[in-house]
Order: sequence, then C-alpha cells, then structure tokens
Amino acid sequence: MASTHPRPHAVIIPYPAQGHINPMLQFAKLLHLHGFFITYVNSHYNHQRLLRSRGSESLQGLHDFRFESIPDGLPPSGDPDTTQDIPLLCLSTRDTCGPPLMDLVTKLNISGSHGSSVNPPVTCIIADNFMTFTLKVGEELGIPVLLFCTTSACGFMGYLHFFELIDRGYTPLKDESYLTNGYLKETSIEWIPGMKDMRLKDLPSFIRTTNRDDTMLNFDGGEAQNAYKAWGVIINTYHELEKDVIDAMKLMFPHLYTIGPLFRFVDQIKDEKIKSIGSNLWKEDMTCIDWLDKQEVGSVVYVNFGSITVMTGEQLEEFAWGLANSKHPFLWVIRPDLVAGEKDMLPEGFIRETKERGVMTSWCPQEQVLSHSSVGVFLTHSGWNSTLESICNGVPMICWPFFAEQPTNCRYVCREWGIGMEIDGNVRRDEVEGLVREMMEGEKGKEMRLKAKEWKEKSEIAFQHGGSSYESMNMLINDLLIG
Ligand code: UDX
Repeated sequence: MASTHPRPHAVIIPYPAQGHINPMLQFAKLLHLHGFFITYVNSHYNHQRLLRSRGSESLQGLHDFRFESIPDGLPPSGDPDTTQDIPLLCLSTRDTCGPPLMDLVTKLNISGSHGSSVNPPVTCIIADNFMTFTLKVGEELGIPVLLFCTTSACGFMGYLHFFELIDRGYTPLKDESYLTNGYLKETSIEWIPGMKDMRLKDLPSFIRTTNRDDTMLNFDGGEAQNAYKAWGVIINTYHELEKDVIDAMKLMFPHLYTIGPLFRFVDQIKDEKIKSIGSNLWKEDMTCIDWLDKQEVGSVVYVNFGSITVMTGEQLEEFAWGLANSKHPFLWVIRPDLVAGEKDMLPEGFIRETKERGVMTSWCPQEQVLSHSSVGVFLTHSGWNSTLESICNGVPMICWPFFAEQPTNCRYVCREWGIGMEIDGNVRRDEVEGLVREMMEGEKGKEMRLKAKEWKEKSEIAFQHGGSSYESMNMLINDLLIG
C-alpha cells in the first residue's frame, strides 16, 4: 500500500569550499539512499565550476536528487580567486545568502513543483555549521535546521570555546611577540570538556590574533555558539576515534549524531547514477593512478595540502628539497594557486634531480590515491577530510597544519592516535627529509603504520551493521522522519 506521508525532502547547503562540499554531498547521497528527496544547494560560482569540471550531465537528470544554486555575494571571481579568501567568503555568505535561500525554499514549498516533476515539501534543512544564517530561514518557514560539522569533533569543541578563551584572557594575544615567544606552545588548557593536555597552539588557529575584532575569531566563535539554536548537530567522525570529546559534546547537544567516515557509507550505494555524482571543483588527473600502479607497495610519499593552503615560495622550495633528499618516490599535488603570487615555482635542478622517482600534478582523485597500496605516508596540511581519508586507509601522516582546526587535528593525529609526526613551525628541508626517512625506514614509522592499521579497522567496524556510526545514522534518519 502506498504511504500517505509525503516523501521527506532535505535541502542541503554546504559552505562553498571543497572540504565542505565533499562530505555534504556524500551525506546527501546517503539520505537519498534512505528515501529522501534531495535539493543540494551550491553557490552559483561553484555550481558553474562543477558543470565545467564534471560536465553538465553529472548534475542533471535525476528526478529526486536536484542541484540548485544561490549567489555567494562576491563579485565574479577572476585571478586571484576571491572565493579562496576565507574571511571574505565567510562574511559574504553570512550577510547575503539568507534571502536567496529563503526564496528558494519558499519556491520549492509553494509551487511544490520543480521543472517537470513534483517535489515534496521541504521537511528539513541541513546546513554546514559555518552557514548558520540558515537557522533564521528555518525558523521563519517552520522547518527544522540541523548543522553539519565537516570538521573533527575536537576542532568543533575548540571553536565552541573561543568566547570562553576570550573571557578567560587567553586571546587576543597581548602583542605580536606572543606568536613566537613560546606562549602558544607553553600555555596548556585543561578545562575544555573531553580534552586534556591541550596547548593553546593546538586549538583552531584563529585565536592567534592580537585583535579582539578579528574577523575569523568572531565569525567562528559566533557560528559555533549558534549551534546551540539548531535542532541537531551532525559530525563526520566516529565515536571510537574521538570518544572523550564526543561524550562531552553529547551533554551539550541533546541531538548529536556522529556518522563518519561518510565516504565509507557511500560505498554501499548501488545506484550508479547517484554514485557517480562528483564534487571536485578542480579537474582530477587520473594518470597518477597509472603511475602508482607501477610503484612498489608502501613506497610512495603522497604530498597534498588540500584546497585552501597557501605557502611561500621559500616553503615550497624547502618541501621540494626535503623530498628530493629523502630519495623516496613521491606524488606531489601542487594546486595552481598553492604558492602566493608565484607562477614558476619549483627550484631549478629539482625536477632534473627527481624525474625518475617524482610525479607532480595539480589535482588528483585523493580517495583513490590514499587507498592505493603503493602509498606509504601522507604529507598533509591536516584538513579534516584528508585526515579522515588517511585514517580510514591506514596511512600514517606527516602533518604541516596550515590554519583553522588543522592544528587540533594534527595534535590528535600525533599524540592521541599515534599515527603521525608534525613538522613544527616553519618548514626546513632537513626536517622534511628526516621525517620522511623516519616514517618510511625507521622504527617509529613501523609503529605508526601498525597503529594506522588498527584505526582503519576500527573505522570499518564503525560503519558496519551495529557499529557506532551505523547506529547513529539510523537514529538520525528516524529522528528526521518523526520530526
Ligand atoms: C578545509 C579543511 O576541511 C578544514 O581543516 C578547514 O576547516 C576548512 O576547510 P581543505 O583544506 O580543502 O578543507 O582540506 P580537506 O578537509 O582535507 O578537504 C579536501 C578534500 O578535497 C578532500 O576530500 C580530498 O579528498 C579532496 N581532494 C584534495 C582531492 O580530491 N584531490 C586533491 O588533489 C586534493
């Protein structure tokens, strides 16, 4: 007998950056698998980029999985790409995306139709936790809003305490010298629930300011506090990995769902059309997989700093010579805008020196790379998706956190989980060489590889039937259906 209940309809709104679009699309696919009608809302700019990099067919033709777009409020992007300016993008989305989203959801609800086929009314809005302007939209339209945290639970816990760090006098820093005089490293914080032995240095980087009005300090602190007004909070992590923080967070949020690693769940999707919807904003170079196929098991250093990191020409040079001097094969992804203001970036002699064992490209299919048996270690900026993808493939890490909650992820990788080593502060070639050698040839590397394998196995259990993330996902679906 056909159900009399209309089909649940989730409007999903990622923050318009790669590290946020990926997990939220995976989540959207999973909701679709559970019977939801999906409207996935990108920024106009990213929608166009996806059409260009994936082809228009990839975003069309599914009657119950729709793509819409709203403006991000920035002027048309050129070179440099203004959407890579994170403070600007944060303020712009906060201040301009509310009304167009309201219009879109209203349109979906009033007309009840979309193109040629009818859509059910919107039953929930699921927004990135840095897009909390959506709470007002939900409140005005009487639709519950859940916030989706694409960062780690430990990173989110850090953001949740930004304002307390201000109240207790830890930040803003007294003056610039506090960035280098050991204050960040030596000040330990023991009062954040579920976190122990944290240095100020390990908390999200936006506390490293001397300015009480700093955009990111206030934006991230404020967005985190807004989570208390949401109907629920979803985090792309698994309980076993961040147990203490998640248990503490459960006391703060009555509806907390830890449902990661999401890209593992997506393996369960059978509908090829849904499965094939991609979210890479850059075009992937698939030839690096052919190259990996020819390398020995566990022999390759994979280097990738994600979608936002920007480094200086000197830092790039130090990484280059560190890799070259280590003598290990490497796959290095260098985004066209990785180095600030420079075009022709690699040091003379480096390509000649490494051409037999090094491959460079501008964007790769990272999940495929990390699951490749040739990869032995991941030199990463510690973005949460990269960290999770590495953990779930049992690959240990060398961490060079760039910004945001990446220092927090790095601290957990190196100290709590025992699967990584950190490049401290400004990168030097001898340190890169030493860490690569230690990881690939040394005792510590061996231990970390074993530990990484254990965390991989735990992640597999979490998303299997009866596992912590499986159960949490079921609870979320149930709660969304009951309303
Ligand atoms: C960041 C981080 O998530 C986070 O630390 C911060 O809060 C803001 O956003 P990003 O720096 O891009 O995002 O890193 P990451 O979280 O690792 O996400 C990058 C995603 O792009 C991953 O899913 C990765 O698989 C994918 N990717 C990256 C590719 O597919 N190919 C590449 O060459 C590089």
